[in-house]
Amino acid sequence: MVSEIRLFTELTFHEKAQQYSAVLSSRGVVVFIEQVEKLNARFLRLNPELALCVDEEGLWLCANGMKMQPDWIAEVGRLKRASLKSEMIARACNLGEKPKLIDATAGLGHDSLLMAHLGAEVTLVERHPILFTLLEDSKAKSKNDSFLASVVARIDLVFSDSNVYLQSQIDQKQMVDVVYLDPMFPQRDQNQQAIKKQAQVKKQMQLLHLLLPEDGEMDLGDQLLNLAKRMAKRVVVKRPRLAVFLDEQKPDHQWQGDACRFDAYFQNDLCN
Ligand SMILES: C[S@@+](CC[C@H](N)C(=O)[O-])C[C@H]1O[C@@H](n2cnc3c(N)ncnc32)[C@H](O)[C@@H]1O
Repeated sequence: MVSEIRLFTELTFHEKAQQYSAVLSSRGVVVFIEQVEKLNARFLRLNPELALCVDEEGLWLCANGMKMQPDWIAEVGRLKRASLKSEMIARACNLGEKPKLIDATAGLGHDSLLMAHLGAEVTLVERHPILFTLLEDSKAKSKNDSFLASVVARIDLVFSDSNVYLQSQIDQKQMVDVVYLDPMFPQRDQNQQAIKKQAQVKKQMQLLHLLLPEDGEMDLGDQLLNLAKRMAKRVVVKRPRLAVFLDEQKPDHQWQGDACRFDAYFQNDLCN
């Protein structure tokens, strides 16, 4: 996992950059701040390596000439079009019941934002210190948005490895309605079709892949599934459409979409 990173900023945002640097260092990331004259497209093209940027829009990741942040405000249009009927994730996670839900693989938080918008009370868990800091920034900005303020009021962020977090919830006998898992998917997998889909991941996901550990080091979520099943009435796993089952465990039910599917595991003995 990235434990050292360069952070580019302009003179005007130097103080802000120092604040982010302090937060990141409290989470184990060593940050090297570099002041640049202009943080523009040309600069980003000439500095293709993965780095952070701080400007008027807060904290960003940049690489290969692109900038990326979990931009929740940019999701508002999509949220406004979404409904319990139209979204497969809503059926898979039973969002009509306004569940208490843990998203144990937060990433950019886009799935959780949608689920919170559709009624879930969501705890987002992310173990990557840079991604977590980006999420925190996105949540803070969303609080000032008239549409998102009520949505993010239903979102809690937890910086932790979910294996540890779920185990601590089990130890405290804290059950939830749903645990949602969208673990990283290995590049080398038994399923060639799934790899083809993987190559089509959106720009944002490409940057996410640069930040996260290589194949072999990343958490593929097998252990998370077993922990989740001990504390949630329903565990929902998002997978590329043709991917193998998580931990080779056959789900009780599936919802199939064009690019992805949701596998659900029900624990009837945990109901009430
Ligand atoms: C594919 S992304 C999730 C994308 C997310 N569903 C979204 O809408 O943006 C997987 C994320 O899970 C995180 N992750 C994987 N294993 C984890 C663990 N054991 N604990 C916490 N986070 C984990 C990774 O760091 C990565 O950010």
